[in-house]
Amino acid sequence: IAIRREDYSAPAYWIDTVELTFDLDPAKTRVLNRMRLRRNPEVAPEPLRLDGDELNLARVLVDGQGASFRMEADQLVIDSLPDAFELEIFTTCCPVKNTKLMGLFVSEDTFFTQCEAEGFRRITYFLDRPDVMASYTVTLRATKAAYPVLLSNGNLVEHGDLPEGRHFAKWVDPFRKPSYLFALVAGKLVAREQHIKARNGREHLLQVYVRAGDLDKTEHAMNSLINSVLWDEARFGLPLDLDRFMIVATSDFNMGAMENKGLNIFNTKYVLANQATATDADYSNIESVVGHEYFHNWSGDRVTCRDWFQLSLKEGLTVFRDQEFSQDLCADASARAVKRIEDVRVLRTAQFPEDAGPMAHPVRPDSYIEISNFYTVTIYEKGAEVVRMMQTLVGRKGFERGITLYFERHDGQAVTCDDFAQAIADANPDTELARLLPQFKRWYSQAGTPRLAAHGVYDAASRSYTLSFVQSCPPTPGQATKDPFVIPVNLGLLGADGRELPVQLEGEAEGTPGTRTLVLTRAGEQYTFIGLDAEPVPSILRSFSAPVILDYAYSDAQLLTLLASDPDPFNRWEAGQRLALRAAIRAINEPALAGEQPLDEAFVDAMRSVLRHPQLDAAFKELVLTLPSETYIAEQLDVVDPQRVHAVREAMRAQLATALFADWEQAYEQNRDTGAYTPDPVSSGRRALAGIALTHLCLAARASGDNVWPGKTLQRFKDAGNMTDRFNALSALVSSGHALAAQALARFHEIFKNEALVIDKWFSLQAGAPDRGGDILPLVKQLMKHPDFSIKNPNRARSVIFSYCSANPGALHRPDAAGYVFWSDRVIELDAINPQVAARLARALDRWSKLAEPYRSAAREAIARVAARPDLSKDTHEVVTRALSI
Ligand code: ARG
Ligand code: ZN
Repeated sequence: IAIRREDYSAPAYWIDTVELTFDLDPAKTRVLNRMRLRRNPEVAPEPLRLDGDELNLARVLVDGQGASFRMEADQLVIDSLPDAFELEIFTTCCPVKNTKLMGLFVSEDTFFTQCEAEGFRRITYFLDRPDVMASYTVTLRATKAAYPVLLSNGNLVEHGDLPEGRHFAKWVDPFRKPSYLFALVAGKLVAREQHIKARNGREHLLQVYVRAGDLDKTEHAMNSLINSVLWDEARFGLPLDLDRFMIVATSDFNMGAMENKGLNIFNTKYVLANQATATDADYSNIESVVGHEYFHNWSGDRVTCRDWFQLSLKEGLTVFRDQEFSQDLCADASARAVKRIEDVRVLRTAQFPEDAGPMAHPVRPDSYIEISNFYTVTIYEKGAEVVRMMQTLVGRKGFERGITLYFERHDGQAVTCDDFAQAIADANPDTELARLLPQFKRWYSQAGTPRLAAHGVYDAASRSYTLSFVQSCPPTPGQATKDPFVIPVNLGLLGADGRELPVQLEGEAEGTPGTRTLVLTRAGEQYTFIGLDAEPVPSILRSFSAPVILDYAYSDAQLLTLLASDPDPFNRWEAGQRLALRAAIRAINEPALAGEQPLDEAFVDAMRSVLRHPQLDAAFKELVLTLPSETYIAEQLDVVDPQRVHAVREAMRAQLATALFADWEQAYEQNRDTGAYTPDPVSSGRRALAGIALTHLCLAARASGDNVWPGKTLQRFKDAGNMTDRFNALSALVSSGHALAAQALARFHEIFKNEALVIDKWFSLQAGAPDRGGDILPLVKQLMKHPDFSIKNPNRARSVIFSYCSANPGALHRPDAAGYVFWSDRVIELDAINPQVAARLARALDRWSKLAEPYRSAAREAIARVAARPDLSKDTHEVVTRALSI
């Protein structure tokens, strides 16, 4: 059942045109599919095999005549066919029973589709693979009163009334596309509209469709879309190629959003926002996701993937593009750096564990059982880092040239990751990337996070400093050994006083202070820097120039220097994280130290200096003052006792709360008022800092018993003028476990009971709260009985079940194994409803083999329990069998 990349062969038939006619009915939708096909002359003749899934087949006509066909599993097979022919297929399906949310489904009385990766076959029989690109004409027919809005890809060419209260709309997509980019929407929706004129003078209509009550929450999505259109044209010369571009929001969606040509379909979570209901983080996610889907219009739709092994071709590139977009919208370098730190944090807390676990796979995988399982942080985030390294190696302008060549060469084609890398290299012939391309592409073929061990030796006699690097990469499933990677290392050298020193390599006439990129290619290599009067502090891997784990035996003093003065904000932040990590690991490993005070005075003083720093931005301070997550700490350990990790991190938080009490007070007072709400980086940074300050002030109150700050926090919760401040206050009470949390939670529910996305936050906050004596699991079980809970709605399931199983290690990993039993019950329950969501949840125990006993055996047993179920979906089956195979 595994599909292998090396087995790729071109399709035996091409589909040139598709005419689809839908009679939309929730219980029985009729789909008439008329296609023009022709044999692919480059492939030896073979029968036509069309994919289908859960369809009722009524009729097959070849050139208007009844044709003989047979079924082989889910495929419809026709043996003898002319070289070119018309094929007509009539099927029905049942959207209202489609709980998998793949293909055509109903959400709140509205029809939506999701076809990527293999959902189109749930709508009609088709060559459902991305290298078959066709021109689509789509006619939608439905009852006008129930479904007044009828949308599909491209341009509306005709619409009108039909007998019996029905109406129709006919859409023509001017661009050929693979089936996974097909979409339709039908229902009662309203749109925010905006006409814009692009730089090239072309006029476009932009629309954001939502349910009637939500129109007041679409302004930010629309602004993000306008910014996206303008940015892609300005930065990469890629214009909007359609007269009309639509975004539609649905509250039932497996993923974040989908880039269907001209008709993007979004999870409401990434569209709807106003200041009363959405946090700063929501605003920023909306900007990213709107940008991401829009940028797919070129990197995905105009140039698509030859096969699904090439998924990162579009996803890695498009994540890179949305990251650059968000950075370019920042007003200054500090805000850009904050965005970079946030992106790296996601990579290291989610992708590094994936790369070290049973689901590890290369950015371009070699095999899969269910492609839906490969929409991963490796394909997306690591893929984006690979693109970013290319930009580092050829420079920003060179990269823009590369993108231009890529689209010139491949517009309208379905291509591979090799094609992309080749275009970037060919546009930059005299660069390290072009010289090293075959080796660089190991980033696509080899899984696992490389480790880079660095070691520095200063020689006073020659005033020189030698840095040695040794790279290695651990084995991953199916890949026992790895060859060296091309690793761009951004490097700076600091004096003990924190000043930036000239970086002058042996043999060079002079050096300039600042960052320089070393390009490592061998398992081990050395660089000698000269003209140094004393041992420098190396600032290695600035801006996180490669997705590797850097091991360097920094002294505490060196890290304190970097934290106090590295001009590179990423490494400045990283120094603080390394110090905190060191303290955590020390306390975890030495039971005697595990008690109250894991942090030493120097660290606390350094945090105080950051908090009180007159120049640093609030957003950056908040990042520095946020301790590494339990998940990230656990990744640094060979054997993990999750309860110990949790206890130590909580002790660290408590210590920072008490030791910096006056500083938190000052930070809160200075940042509490951000004036009229706007979600810009500066004011959102100030709200974030005020929020973390409140949390620590409430934590300190927990230790002292003084209720002043919890009381003020409750008042702020009540008075807040925006969701960010309100939610941060609520979260401070919940996260400190204060008794006032209960009434704040009750009030929050009362105010927002009709706002589904806010109720998701309400559930999620509780299920993700710090565990105190095993209290979270019973609470989660209670929450699942709440009238607002529904396991069928993915957002709601995520807000309770995933917040507990995937985001609350201190609560999930219980000595009595009840967390694992709960997890396995939910995986099994969800698998019968929605395999994609179930398989995501199944990943929560990926790292079971690192756990200490009794957790390890109990977790394995829970996974085996799931794996033993008959009738498991392919999705969940693949995840749990891989988990057991290590
Ligand atoms: N292409 C979409 C995006 O990243 C995600 C689609 C995911 N679909 C899936 N079946 N897993 O923007
Ligand atoms: Zn994408």
